[in-house]
Amino acid sequence: MKKLIIANWKMNPTRGLDARKLFKSVNTIASKLKNVETVICPPLVYLESLGELVTNRACVLGSQDAFWEHAGPFTGQVSADMIFGTKARYVIVGHSERRALGETDSDINKKIKSILQFPLIPVLCVGEISRDDDHQFVKLVKNQIRLALVDLTDEEISRVVIAYEPVWAIGSKAKKACEPADCREMSHIIKTVLADLSNSEITKNIPILYGGSVNSENSESYLKDGLVDGLLVGRASLDGKEFIKILKIAEKS
Ligand code: PGA
Repeated sequence: MKKLIIANWKMNPTRGLDARKLFKSVNTIASKLKNVETVICPPLVYLESLGELVTNRACVLGSQDAFWEHAGPFTGQVSADMIFGTKARYVIVGHSERRALGETDSDINKKIKSILQFPLIPVLCVGEISRDDDHQFVKLVKNQIRLALVDLTDEEISRVVIAYEPVWAIGSKAKKACEPADCREMSHIIKTVLADLSNSEITKNIPILYGGSVNSENSESYLKDGLVDGLLVGRASLDGKEFIKILKIAEKS
């Protein structure tokens, strides 16, 4: 399986020109990689214009969210249908920064269902805010997955990507990075939850990603020892050179 490296640009950069520049510089390298699929998730306003710069399937676009209704009186929302109309192929769902703004597990479930009506791949983000000695955080992550995937068929579940993103390891305020061993343990737990949810063999191939303070120094450790199939990269994806370093590491891992 190819490594899946997703760039979450969040609400950056401020200008479309800079977004095009950054995409072009990453695409030059990413489009040539054989063992990596790169996905750039820019702010929605840039999707259409960056779509013109996509050259092949090795480096594609994704959205950071999608609303569950197709169209209608939903001010400020953008549907999966509209996202599919651009060149985007992936949609991040349930990122902790959206959960912090009030997004619920049931909202996330509705979003995933609407995304799966199109040839789009939902990237479901799960992760605990903090860890506790009683391991209650494991229950929480398991529940996030179960609730997000309620009422989905085996075939639908098999099209989802799961990103484990411990909230305490995300962003510039992160106190410490997640140890690859902890990432490995959680990846194993996620695989078990998926196997429980569906009798199907196909859920075995669901890619599991790690996200949270990934950079060129630690990416290899997650890919080699973290039992993950790829990475979800925030800050480090805004620096073209740094992100390309991560892609090259993934190409060799
Ligand atoms: P970070 O963000 O790499 O800046 O920690 C990751 C994410 O939120 O997806």
